[in-house]
Amino acid sequence: MKYKYWRRSRVIPFTLLLSNLVYVSFGLDPAASAPLVADTAFTKSAFYDQNEQCFRCHGNSKYTYFNPVSEKDVSATMCENRVIHRNEFYTANHRSFACVDCHAAEYDTFPHPGQLRMEAPYNCIDCHGYDEQYAQYHFEEIEEEFQQSTHYTANGDAFTCWKCHNPHTYRINIRNSTSMQQSIAYDNQICLNCHSDFERFQLLSDREEINLIQKHEWLPNQGLHFSQVRCIECHARLNDSLMVAHRIMPKDKSVKRCVECHSQNSLLMSSLYKFQAKESRSDAGFLNSIILNDAFVIGANRNIILNRISLIVFFASLGLMLMHLLLRMIFKRND
Ligand code: HEC
Ligand code: HEC
Ligand code: HEC
Ligand code: HEC
Ligand code: HEC
Ligand code: HEC
Ligand code: HEC
Repeated sequence: MKYKYWRRSRVIPFTLLLSNLVYVSFGLDPAASAPLVADTAFTKSAFYDQNEQCFRCHGNSKYTYFNPVSEKDVSATMCENRVIHRNEFYTANHRSFACVDCHAAEYDTFPHPGQLRMEAPYNCIDCHGYDEQYAQYHFEEIEEEFQQSTHYTANGDAFTCWKCHNPHTYRINIRNSTSMQQSIAYDNQICLNCHSDFERFQLLSDREEINLIQKHEWLPNQGLHFSQVRCIECHARLNDSLMVAHRIMPKDKSVKRCVECHSQNSLLMSSLYKFQAKESRSDAGFLNSIILNDAFVIGANRNIILNRISLIVFFASLGLMLMHLLLRMIFKRND
């Protein structure tokens, strides 16, 4: 009789305590339990020394060459947008490349032969199209989507994939994201490279400068929104089979209605949080995984409240257990 009582009363608080410990320590911060992306920054490229022949000039703001006419070494400044930073290059997707894999081998002479300028660069699809190894990225569909985007229809072939994917620095981001904040900032910077830098913008268009802050004045708390969602959430048409939607719509088709995000079936679940949603749908169930996530959008779920409740339950169970121990000690003495 006594033994039975002890067993039953022990099991309940124990289970509660354990399940809450698990929830509090893992549920609140999924990033903490996510596997780290392999640190590739320090794998040395097979072409490191060869590339140094180019980095010698393109890796710094100053370069030096020998002038055979004056028979002197001459120093000059390397214009900023021709400077490539080694650390960025060697952490980018194409870090294993030699410069001359993409650029003509004749670039090893200086001054560079003038006609090299006229060469058309390879496009993503030339190397990645219809390649099973890259099937998960759906390059072919991205290409199709891009060709219907407002950028391509307005600017034609002058607007290539490289305009957003800097050939020397681009690396996959949201797919391997360990920090949503950083991924959002990275992705938005891609757009801001032109949309907050008129010098780059005007290379493609004769339109007047677009003042982003003014154009988004209707959006309250702009700074917060721009750090919590990506430009493409509102500007690209949703596409279920792509990790990143690539069809940027004309401005009058952009998302303006607040409830598209601030609601139970927020569009963010099929854009920004799509990967996490998909990943965890299988093991934890869709709703659960989103709620356990660090994603909370007003109206979309009640994550904060859930977390608080969980903390309360946690301390309540702890209290229960201590009470129980105390009672038992008193019980024992009386026996
Ligand atoms: C001695 C210094 C020097 C070296 C070495 C050098 N470059 Fe350059 N490079 C320049 C300068 C200066 C410019 C800008 C003037 C010009 O376009 O010729 C330039 C321009 C370029 C451009 C842009 C051309 C354009 O269309 O605007 C490319 C691409 C380039 N270099 C690639 C390379 C590659 C690849 C290597 C290594 C194989 C290399 N460079 C080595 C000095 C150098
Ligand atoms: C994956 C292919 C690829 C690799 C690898 C690559 N480049 Fe480029 N590079 C390009 C493309 C494409 C452009 C033209 C970008 C554009 O049109 O916006 C370019 C442009 C340039 C320019 C002109 C300035 C600019 O940024 O537009 C320079 C200089 C240059 N590359 C130097 C180098 C050097 C030096 C290396 C090696 C450290 C290198 N590139 C490696 C593809 C590559
Ligand atoms: C000259 C051929 C070539 C071009 C052009 C090219 N790539 Fe690549 N890309 C490669 C190769 C080869 C790799 C694998 C590199 C490695 O494994 O080190 C790669 C790697 C990648 C990866 C990483 C894949 C992974 O699973 O790790 C991405 C993403 C990528 N490229 C996107 C692009 C995009 C976007 C463009 C155009 C803006 C582009 N590539 C243009 C050849 C190319
Ligand atoms: C208007 C800008 C823009 C243009 C143009 C663009 N992209 Fe992207 N692309 C992005 C952004 C932003 C991302 C998100 C980067 C990230 O978080 O990994 C992305 C991601 C990607 C990815 C990785 C998606 C994944 O599944 O992880 C691939 C592959 C890609 N782009 C290919 C292309 C190709 C091919 C083209 C040209 C046909 C192109 N992009 C043109 C903005 C652009
Ligand atoms: C919450 C949704 C939302 C976000 C986030 C957002 N935009 Fe917009 N954006 C809009 C809407 C809606 C319009 C159309 C405004 C109008 O016409 O009144 C617009 C207009 C624009 C225009 C066109 C202005 C014109 O008149 O030609 C550009 C360019 C633009 N946005 C770029 C961006 C960039 C870059 C970002 C990321 C830094 C961004 N937007 C983030 C919703 C958004
Ligand atoms: C290489 C420069 C460049 C980059 C990068 C870029 N844009 Fe643009 N964008 C332009 C130019 C140029 C126009 C004007 C096109 C035109 O109408 O002539 C434009 C126009 C737009 C418009 C307005 C379309 C309209 O109806 O007037 C939107 C919205 C927009 N961009 C969103 C984005 C988003 C979102 C990104 C990032 C994913 C981005 N852009 C990246 C250059 C860029
Ligand atoms: C593209 C999705 C999206 C759209 C569209 C959108 N929001 Fe948001 N909003 C967010 C996200 C994500 C946050 C940041 C998370 C949070 O605090 O809820 C946010 C935050 C806010 C906040 C700040 C809450 C705080 O903590 O200070 C307000 C207010 C807000 N939104 C109102 C609006 C209004 C009003 C509209 C329509 C004019 C709108 N939002 C449109 C996604 C969106």
